[in-house]
Amino acid sequence: MNPLRSLILAAADNDVIRRTVATAPVSRDVVRRFVAGETVADAIEVTRQLVDSGLTVTLDHLGEDTTDADLADQTVRAYLELLDALYAEGLAAGAEVSVKLTAVGQLLDEQLALTNAARICAAAEQCGTTVTLDMEDHTTTDSTLRVLAELRRTWPSVGAVLQAYLHRTVGDCARLAGTGSRVRLCKGAYAEPAEVAYQDMHEVNLSYVRCVNTLLAGDGYPMFATHDPRLVPIVDARAEAHGRKPGGFEFQMLYGIRPEEQRRLAALGHTVRVYVPYGVQWYGYLMRRLAERPANTAFFLRALVSR
Ligand code: FDA
Repeated sequence: MNPLRSLILAAADNDVIRRTVATAPVSRDVVRRFVAGETVADAIEVTRQLVDSGLTVTLDHLGEDTTDADLADQTVRAYLELLDALYAEGLAAGAEVSVKLTAVGQLLDEQLALTNAARICAAAEQCGTTVTLDMEDHTTTDSTLRVLAELRRTWPSVGAVLQAYLHRTVGDCARLAGTGSRVRLCKGAYAEPAEVAYQDMHEVNLSYVRCVNTLLAGDGYPMFATHDPRLVPIVDARAEAHGRKPGGFEFQMLYGIRPEEQRRLAALGHTVRVYVPYGVQWYGYLMRRLAERPANTAFFLRALVSR
């Protein structure tokens, strides 16, 4: 792995650095490039702008790695409040929610995470929308897929994320490519060991394309999450080769990254979903985005010193 990427991902887990950066007087504009804001109102405002411009949205209430049942409960309540607001604002048709199971208790107890995720799924159903489970580091993959399987018994449209950098993922794609399934394919954002993950970006890209083909050959609804200018046309061409029309799959990108490409794909008739994070716990998310691209780190540091 690129040494700068490893360093930034290590910083994401370091409590001293976390406290220093999270309490530094960081310009709101810097964080706001990638994060909608801290409140539900901020999330709704950004969602409305994106939906009005022809995009769809998945909203993430920021937070992860909770080892406190009360905090997990607070996260569930935050999602319920968000879903109510989406419904009240008439935005539920264009926006779903993404949930990290570690934010709703997975590290404490898988059953607690299942119960909490089920509360969110039930509320999403009532509001006329759905849920996708984010995928975190590889130690949580089996547990997340078990929880997914349980949730899908009641809510078959609950989606999952698979990470192309893991050796296991092409097999997981084949297992999850059945009718009704929704799978978001991404490269993967965590620092993973060579025993479980490809370390070379070329290998990750090759794995991504194998997974694209596997998902497109199945009967599910694939959601291709990448900003990679080489992969987007490959996905498009492979989808056409598999007879998938726009609407039979979707592109997904992160809020603040390649917005002009998001609009270009939507203008071609593709469904494009923008992942919009919001909330006060933006630190871990921001560090993963910085790790993906050194230019972002320079942008962040420049903004800090130029305040
Ligand atoms: P890659 O990182 O190789 O970037 C390719 C190109 O895209 C870059 O050269 C640049 O042009 C552009 N780009 C990429 N990242 C950028 C950035 N941060 N800033 C500016 N330009 C950038 N991961 C995970 O482990 N679990 C998850 O649940 C999710 N969920 C998720 C949802 C959605 C909708 C997306 C788009 C991504 C995720 N991810 C994720 C993150 C994912 O694993 C991955 O880290 C990022 O998408 C970056 O990978 P790319 O495919 O964009 O390629």
